[in-house]
Amino acid sequence: MTPIPLSRPPIDDELKQAVLAAIDSRRYVLGPQCRALETELAKYTDAKHAVLTSSATAALWMTVRALGVGPGDEVLVPSHTAFPTVEAVCVAGATPVFVDVDDWYTIDPKDAVAKVTPKTVGIVPVHLYGQPVDLPAVQDLAARFGLWLLEDCAQAQGAAWDGRKVGAFGRAAVFSFYPSKNLPAMGDGGCVVTSDNDVAARCRRLRDHGRLNKDVHAEVGFNLRFNELQAAALRVLLPRLDRMNDRRRALAARYAAGLAGLPLALPAEREHARHVYHLYVVATPRRKALAEFLKSRGIQTGIHYPVPAHRQPAVARLAAPALPRTERLVEEILSLPISASHTEAEIDIVVTAVRDFFGS
Ligand SMILES: Cc1ncc(COP(=O)(O)O)c(C=O)c1O
Repeated sequence: MTPIPLSRPPIDDELKQAVLAAIDSRRYVLGPQCRALETELAKYTDAKHAVLTSSATAALWMTVRALGVGPGDEVLVPSHTAFPTVEAVCVAGATPVFVDVDDWYTIDPKDAVAKVTPKTVGIVPVHLYGQPVDLPAVQDLAARFGLWLLEDCAQAQGAAWDGRKVGAFGRAAVFSFYPSKNLPAMGDGGCVVTSDNDVAARCRRLRDHGRLNKDVHAEVGFNLRFNELQAAALRVLLPRLDRMNDRRRALAARYAAGLAGLPLALPAEREHARHVYHLYVVATPRRKALAEFLKSRGIQTGIHYPVPAHRQPAVARLAAPALPRTERLVEEILSLPISASHTEAEIDIVVTAVRDFFGS
């Protein structure tokens, strides 16, 4: 029995050669590979600037600071997300205000409207699992209340709404290159994408100790720079991203066909959206038993995420009110293996195992 991992990053000779060439260059930090990748990422997202950094967490922190967020401000965030989305708001000294999910497990614009107060300055919708949020609704909300809109695209590189790539719908967006992500690096990485010249310039400064030039520091930033080896690898993969996402979509369709008719909620694709299936998440009240059964067949699963952000001990001081839909769904969700490197045969093995579990 060959184990089936939840995700499998690509490795091939072209990638290895690109990394070796970067090693030979003896330029390792924010050099020509990084500059070229920034240009290519901005073009891909149809934005003016991309600013590479060490992770999406760093990208969120820089952007939130560049937007001038600070103590006393409130920022609308989904609770059903990876904790880093919320962390950036907290590190900036602002208060995250947690919003419940809609039918697609993404931020519910109606609940978000209900939570706007005079202190609200912005909203961070998350294109969770690779599915765009209801972008027109979120844009309307931001315009109506004068909020900035920061898209968390960590899980959704290449996803689109009505053919337009996510990442260009607000003031700025962040992306992650963590190895399981749709555009994976061989380590941590991330970037900010924006068409706002001031936000881009401030992020560039913040990622390099707040430097104006070699010797003068205009403000306190940090070392959040990116490196040439990762940039070289990402430059090989970026031209393949749409194809890799097509592949994820084809494997998701194979799951949908194979799992149809079971007492299992399958991912729903919203109209207008190109979902890029960073994760393939099903839901059942029998989640624990299903996960154990799959494990016994060598199939890795995950839960994204078992503890919603508003219930994390780190933010207990906020005493966040209940979010009934989020609290229900985190008990039932289960992520099945998917990536551009999985084979049809592997998906079929998972489908057979799930069908065996349900006895059908
Ligand atoms: C939605 C979301 N936002 C932000 C992050 C943070 O990304 P990184 O690991 O690159 O810091 C992640 C990582 O899993 C994520 O899933």
